Amino acid sequence: MPSGDTATPLREGTSIVRSVINSLSGAMVYTDVGNVETNRRLWNRYAEEWHGNCERNGPYSGSARNPSSELPANKPNVWVQQMAANTAKTSKSTPYSLPALALIGQEWSSPEDLEEVVRDFILPYLTPESAVVEVGVGGGRVAALVLGKCLRLTCLDISERMLEAARTALAAHPATGATVLEFILVGNDSNPSLPSQRVEYPVSLHGRCDFVYCFDVLVHVDVHTLYHTLREIRRLLKPSGKAFLSTANILSPAGWRRFAAQDKYTVGGFYFVSPEIVHGMLAKVGFHVVKHSEIPEGFKELSDMHGLAKGNLYYGRDHLVVVEKAPPEQEMRCASAERGTC
Ligand SMILES: C[S@@+](CC[C@H](N)C(=O)[O-])C[C@H]1O[C@@H](n2cnc3c(N)ncnc32)[C@H](O)[C@@H]1O
Repeated sequence: MPSGDTATPLREGTSIVRSVINSLSGAMVYTDVGNVETNRRLWNRYAEEWHGNCERNGPYSGSARNPSSELPANKPNVWVQQMAANTAKTSKSTPYSLPALALIGQEWSSPEDLEEVVRDFILPYLTPESAVVEVGVGGGRVAALVLGKCLRLTCLDISERMLEAARTALAAHPATGATVLEFILVGNDSNPSLPSQRVEYPVSLHGRCDFVYCFDVLVHVDVHTLYHTLREIRRLLKPSGKAFLSTANILSPAGWRRFAAQDKYTVGGFYFVSPEIVHGMLAKVGFHVVKHSEIPEGFKELSDMHGLAKGNLYYGRDHLVVVEKAPPEQEMRCASAERGTC
């Protein structure tokens, strides 16, 4: 904060800049539609173009790890194949067979890495009575591993195409029986006063959820959208409810390599933050950290762009954290932080 002497010229300077911008605004082209809309367009396109090697829009075809001969002999599109092949190359699992690609996103990691994340960071917090929300369900690859482990699973996404793909793929999943599944399209268009970095999750779910997870989503959002999304997730939780979140870790060797290879932040690339930023923001939003990931030893030794990672990709590149909704006295602290008084 500037001292009394410098504050006045600074304020004047800022208001001059503002009035110049206002007078020029008619001539300026604003191409940034905001993080939420950019994500929506990107993931709609991804889902439209995606083709796996299981029947498109067909029923869920079983375990991704054991592609079976009953699968239709469809070929995934070239870029999906390339992503899956790249995943296979850098996977710790040997020998590695390409996943069946029944669900959008199975090309992003080995089935073992994803299953380990779900086993470590989601399943321990679920009971057969849990009301659970997945924020950013994508094609449903995580939901497929959670089905049958909770009472209700509400899948939210800002991309109508992704949501539709998940709905179709999970409709005939063998484990669905025990879990009530629902899909809700979320966005910011129902509230015109909402800034473009924000998305609102359904008020009908506020305070009703035992567990919320948001995996491989926040890596694509900027730091303001991260903040607003965390606040929305908090609203969904019951008192002492828990959430699982993943962010891209700029301080991990694998995260740093990917960051350094980018010229700038793009939604399709990652938005990197440090665990310190995430933990600081979580405290401000009103969460306690219950558990977080550690970088596996195999990743610490990585020295070059093409080094093979030993360990779970998500633990080596991202920061995974389970948090608990803080008790009421800390909710009050957040409320005053929102008003800018602390
Ligand atoms: C990389 S995919 C991950 C999907 C899924 N979680 C998984 O791990 O397979 C990211 C998904 O998050 C959705 N998404 C992006 N920003 C979001 C936001 N602010 N709120 C809810 N969903 C969002 C995208 O539309 C997309 O379907």
